Amino acid sequence: MKLQLALDDITLEDALELVAKVKDYIDIIEVGTPLVIEEGMRPVRALRKHFPDKEILADLKIMDAGYYETEEALKAGADYVTVLGVTDTLTVKGCVEAANAYGKEVVADMICVSDMPKRIAELEEAGVHGLSVHIGVDQQAAGIEPIDDLRLMIAHTRKAKISVAGGINIDTIPMYAKEKPDVMIVGGGICHAKNPIVAAKEIYEALKGCE
Ligand code: 5RP
Ligand code: MG
Repeated sequence: MKLQLALDDITLEDALELVAKVKDYIDIIEVGTPLVIEEGMRPVRALRKHFPDKEILADLKIMDAGYYETEEALKAGADYVTVLGVTDTLTVKGCVEAANAYGKEVVADMICVSDMPKRIAELEEAGVHGLSVHIGVDQQAAGIEPIDDLRLMIAHTRKAKISVAGGINIDTIPMYAKEKPDVMIVGGGICHAKNPIVAAKEIYEALKGCE
């Protein structure tokens, strides 16, 4: 299981500083959607330059112009780009085509997908490399957690790698780790912790301890 650190409501300067301190505890650096909105592809380029050996995911949550937007992130140095599972399959296929041309991967974010089994089958058929269970920040505030969707996804996925996100922290990580997704995504659980470095270390050790 890999640990993906989501850098969301953080400045590029603070993100670089944080990653330098926690890089031994994370496998994938996520340039989160709010950071992309703020800075465009600059954080992807900067993180690629400073951490050449780390995997980088650009959480673009693509909804249209699949090939073009995916290629923008890949040219900047991303290894993974996200597309929204709810969008048109034509867009997803554009993302997959670009990723395959670069030898990189597309992860479909399943936020707000209503028929998970049906959409998983369609997205796997379209060639996505990864599927991500995601309970968004606004849904988290309403008390929703991603554990049931994770179990559902595991039951219906044939070959795509599975990741999970949605308010996961040091207290809840054992419950998710038990399901053995390929990637555990943590944002606020590290970035908003009293001590983000200690939180990253504890979460990483808890995760690797469950393997
Ligand atoms: C929100 C996101 C976040 O990056 C994702 O939810 C992980 O952050 P957190 O652990 O704080 O939920 O994509 O849309
Ligand atoms: Mg994200």
